[in-house]
Amino acid sequence: MGNPQPIIAEVIGQATGRLQRAGIGSARLDTELLLGRVLGINRTGLYARWSDTLPHETAGAFEALLGRRERREPLQYVTGRQAFWTFDLRVGPGVFVPRPETEHLVEAVLTWGAARGGKLAAGRIADLCTGSGCVALALASEWPQASVYATDQAPEALAVARANAKACGLGGRIAFLEGDLLAPFQPMGLEGRLDVVTANPPYIPSGAIAALQPEVRQWEPIQALDGGSDGLHFYRRIVPEAARYLRRGGLLALEVGAGQAEAVTALIQASGLYSPHTCVPDLAGIPRVVLAERV
Ligand SMILES: C[S@@+](CC[C@H](N)C(=O)[O-])C[C@H]1O[C@@H](n2cnc3c(N)ncnc32)[C@H](O)[C@@H]1O
Repeated sequence: MGNPQPIIAEVIGQATGRLQRAGIGSARLDTELLLGRVLGINRTGLYARWSDTLPHETAGAFEALLGRRERREPLQYVTGRQAFWTFDLRVGPGVFVPRPETEHLVEAVLTWGAARGGKLAAGRIADLCTGSGCVALALASEWPQASVYATDQAPEALAVARANAKACGLGGRIAFLEGDLLAPFQPMGLEGRLDVVTANPPYIPSGAIAALQPEVRQWEPIQALDGGSDGLHFYRRIVPEAARYLRRGGLLALEVGAGQAEAVTALIQASGLYSPHTCVPDLAGIPRVVLAERV
């Protein structure tokens, strides 16, 4: 006879210890989420089965997921999912995991549009550096009449963004275009015709990437992180390039890294192409979204 199967409480205790030893701060929560995923139940369901034996056929599947997380693969890559706005999005290697801060970018654009009598709801919106498509999807769902365009240089990201759009019932609503920032719009005759341009571009200073946690520096795509020597490379390009495509009074909405809002606002002011509108803080009080209107 082999060893008896452990009960769920023991499995959770042992697995949590392994993740703690791997340096993961959220070891217990991650363990419960992974085990719940394998068993097809939520965390409350796990507690209800606390003293049950772990079914033999699930032990192998759980070990596979736990081993990945132990190697500091992001929880979202291991589960393949991340919640954003009203969606449960697919993510995976090659695709930046949407962060909760980015919901402030969506909110800021919606607030700006609402203050303009909702006319924007039927406007033209471009989301640059779309990654999983999270911002484009949120705006398309909130403004059902809008035409939404989304660009990214990474084909892996665009494939996932397209799959997310389809799964969210928004497949026909967003034109996903592969290319460098606004370059895909060049043959489309969109100069001076966009109402809103959003972007959450790579903004980590190159020299700071090595100090990020392993989940980010070892697993997330470097081209989604690296914002050049001072982190501002993409803002320097987007500010003038977006101005070509925005109509007068149109909105440029940029997510920025901690401590970058002042420098990005200064770039916008120095361009003479926009009137700085406002800066929106995240839940930690960090200025996170810079808004400016095309003059
Ligand atoms: C920080 S991620 C943001 C992804 C998504 N918008 C979000 O908020 O989760 C930046 C994205 O920019 C893309 N990217 C990097 N350089 C680019 C470029 N020159 N043109 C278009 N996209 C680019 C990366 O592939 C990545 O998907």
